[in-house]
Amino acid sequence: MTPPVRIDRYDAVWRAAEPYLRSRKNDVHIPISFGYACKLLDLHLEADRDIVLLAIMLHDIGWSAFDMADIVERGFGPGKMQSDLRVLHEKEGMRLSRELLGRTGWPKTIIAAVADIIDGHDTRPRAHSLDDRLVRDADKLWRFTTTGVSVACDWFRKTPHQYADQLDTEIVLIETEAARKIATDDLAKTRTELMLHII
Ligand SMILES: [Fe+2]
Ligand SMILES: [Fe+2]
Repeated sequence: MTPPVRIDRYDAVWRAAEPYLRSRKNDVHIPISFGYACKLLDLHLEADRDIVLLAIMLHDIGWSAFDMADIVERGFGPGKMQSDLRVLHEKEGMRLSRELLGRTGWPKTIIAAVADIIDGHDTRPRAHSLDDRLVRDADKLWRFTTTGVSVACDWFRKTPHQYADQLDTEIVLIETEAARKIATDDLAKTRTELMLHII
């Protein structure tokens, strides 16, 4: 039987990452996505817990190097700047995560695997491992919650209803069957909670 997960195993990393989580609502996105990563790991026991959980915690810390208005303007609008800024936040996230994980005493192999997932997590067309797939799914799943719709609809300059309709079309982009089911169920709950059948 698998031993119960010690969630305080990552406390030092959370504390070290905290200054970098105060942009782009990452202090909301990351804890919620971390919870989804834990759920997905329980369903995929062959994945590496440390790599997946550290990668989900740190994948977006690179956004801290950019101004929020700039992020909304360039990171979520149409056009080339979107991919430029997305690549930059991936590269900065790799650099910061290596430094932060080294400082908190993680082994080199884990640091390299985490950086590998952070590199291209938004812009690389394909996931290169199960760990990578689970991180990608946990990253997306938070948006299907009421909290995620409330936050991200503003980034996309949409109403909650319009954004929920956009999310419907994005379920196919989710990698694993388990996560697609979670996304479908969560979005239905969000639609009810936000009364999207009326407004
Ligand atoms: Fe990202
Ligand atoms: Fe993210």
